[in-house]
Amino acid sequence: MDISNRTVLIVGGTSGIGLGLARRFAAAGSTVIIAGRDTSKVDDLETAQMDVTDPDSVLRARDRILNAHPGLDVLVTMSGVMLMEDLRDPAHFSAAESTIAVNLLGTIRVIDAFIPHLIGLGGADIITVSSGIGFLPFPIMPTYGASKAGVHAYTEALRAQLTGTGVAVTELVPPAVATAGQEKVNPAALPLDRYLDEVTGLITQTPTPNEIVVQAALRLRWAERDGTYASLLGARSQALNTLPGR
Ligand SMILES: NC(=O)c1ccc[n+]([C@@H]2O[C@H](COP(=O)([O-])OP(=O)(O)OC[C@H]3O[C@@H](n4cnc5c(N)ncnc54)[C@H](OP(=O)(O)O)[C@@H]3O)[C@@H](O)[C@H]2O)c1
Repeated sequence: MDISNRTVLIVGGTSGIGLGLARRFAAAGSTVIIAGRDTSKVDDLETAQMDVTDPDSVLRARDRILNAHPGLDVLVTMSGVMLMEDLRDPAHFSAAESTIAVNLLGTIRVIDAFIPHLIGLGGADIITVSSGIGFLPFPIMPTYGASKAGVHAYTEALRAQLTGTGVAVTELVPPAVATAGQEKVNPAALPLDRYLDEVTGLITQTPTPNEIVVQAALRLRWAERDGTYASLLGARSQALNTLPGR
């Protein structure tokens, strides 16, 4: 995938991996627009306010962005929340609802809003964002893992449905990356710049791989195939001891 001469919208680009990726596209020469709820966090890139849980907000932002950038040819669905849940406490349900609303339905809603435009261009890219946790659960974030497994399955179906339209679909499968407090949950989280260096190297390959899986994510992505799933899941379950009252 060329990242040097594109017009890119990164939804969920106001912080973390999305903002870092936005700056990589911009540094390579692309025009970048980032969207999210709190655009005040960014002053060096064009921004658009968008709440992916609000259908009107998505359509309003879409119309404004496409009006200003009719050549927009890369859509990245990066918005996500990573919430811990204690499934023994029924109060977890609101976290489950928000997680599905943002991570899974938000992804689907944003893609729906831009598909007619992207197909109309005849040559475009959609980049979705799952997680290693979508392939090997982190039991302290149960709905998060479910939402990302959902993003993976949806991405596979989307790619199949868009075959022949000129719209390619790529899935980022990040491991733990040191953003949004991940380094506190997982001290081994990859520094953001190292993650982005590897992503940039993989995503610019020709042909673009269907999945962008950096070295640190390989053991999560392929645990089931490698026969390491049960032992890794057991090790990852240790974090449940950090829940209050356990
Ligand atoms: N960091 C990791 O370890 C890791 C690992 C695997 C996958 N991921 C995935 O990578 C993506 C980015 O995560 P990150 O670590 O960079 O976290 P982050 O810094 O918290 O970024 C999350 C982004 O999502 C946006 N967002 C949240 N709720 C939204 C909503 N309702 N509408 C629109 N945007 C919304 C946030 O923007 P606003 O708050 O401005 O709305 C922010 O830009 C997420 O999908 C995450 O699940 C992260």
